[in-house]
Amino acid sequence: MIKSVNLLTLISNNTKPVTLNQIQSPILKDMKAVDRVIRDSLHSEVTLINTIGEHIISSAGKRLRPALVLLSSGLFGPVSTQQHQLAAVIEFIHTATLLHDDVVDESDMRRGKRTANHVFGNAASVLVGDFLYSRAFQMMVSLNNMRVMEILSDATNTIAEGEVLQLLNLHNANVTEEAYLRVIHYKTAKLFEAAARLGAVMSDRYNVADEEALGLYGMHLGTAFQLVDDVLDINGDEEKIGKNLGDDLSEGKPTLPLLYAMHQSDTSQAAIIRKAIEQGGADDVPAVLEAVLASNATEYVLGVAKKEADLACAAIADFADSEYKSAMLALATFAVSRQH
Ligand code: IPE
Ligand code: IPE
Ligand code: MG
Ligand code: MG
Repeated sequence: MIKSVNLLTLISNNTKPVTLNQIQSPILKDMKAVDRVIRDSLHSEVTLINTIGEHIISSAGKRLRPALVLLSSGLFGPVSTQQHQLAAVIEFIHTATLLHDDVVDESDMRRGKRTANHVFGNAASVLVGDFLYSRAFQMMVSLNNMRVMEILSDATNTIAEGEVLQLLNLHNANVTEEAYLRVIHYKTAKLFEAAARLGAVMSDRYNVADEEALGLYGMHLGTAFQLVDDVLDINGDEEKIGKNLGDDLSEGKPTLPLLYAMHQSDTSQAAIIRKAIEQGGADDVPAVLEAVLASNATEYVLGVAKKEADLACAAIADFADSEYKSAMLALATFAVSRQH
């Protein structure tokens, strides 16, 4: 029998579930403006770019990172059109990483649709990912702010390092929790950190301490977000997450739920998990899932994510109360209680 305790459900029963609407409520008009910037900036005379761009942009992305740019901006005063532009830049960078990531991970579902690599092929996906990256940099340069350029070029460089580090860890069942955390800081948390910092940078009331506090918030938030993503790969609902379950498993990716379950399980179950990481392949997925769920790995990892979300909230405690700050606190809860 698979133990059916699901801490995601426990967390969402104990704390009121947070919806995306709640997070976006102070920035509804701004999110619409960002959507216009995204659509206007996607255009190219090369039609395949428009087709693939439209394919991925028009599907149901949560738009958390642009929302974070706007919320962080809102802490300092009314959100400006320059900040709408910045929010669109962050979403373009995120989307470029997804196009590349799905090629690397050989994934065929994303945002509830067939991935671009599945529909249009790997080459087209990689190249349109490059288009989005470089379009993001054109838009960023037009803002003419050196600190913005520094933050975004550092973030994209770190994401690439994270993806390569992760590639090196593939099929390695001896990866430590520390090494796993380094990968997720780089590949995911860094962009949340950048998004949070940017709000402060483009404000007239900029100061270094505020930027640092927001950077810390984003780093912890992004860490919680990826920890939960790795749990959802095991016990999520495919309809809700819009991706295939077990992608990490079949790839042989040593995520924290697998590593923890391997260390906690008895010899035979630990051997099943070790083999799955070392050899990958989808053959053993039901047995591995059973072994992972029988350990309390998902509860453990969600506990780690909850601590990260708490640290994110603590980092912005000194900002004056506002609807923007409340939405940022709600975003931290969403990161750990989310089902999609
Ligand atoms: C997916 O991010 C990539 C990860 C860092 C896990 P999101 O879950 O924010 O993706 P979309 O934009 O909502 O599809
Ligand atoms: C997320 O990678 C981080 C980036 C896209 C850079 P994952 O491979 O863990 O995320 P999903 O599951 O494909 O969204
Ligand atoms: Mg992936
Ligand atoms: Mg990946």
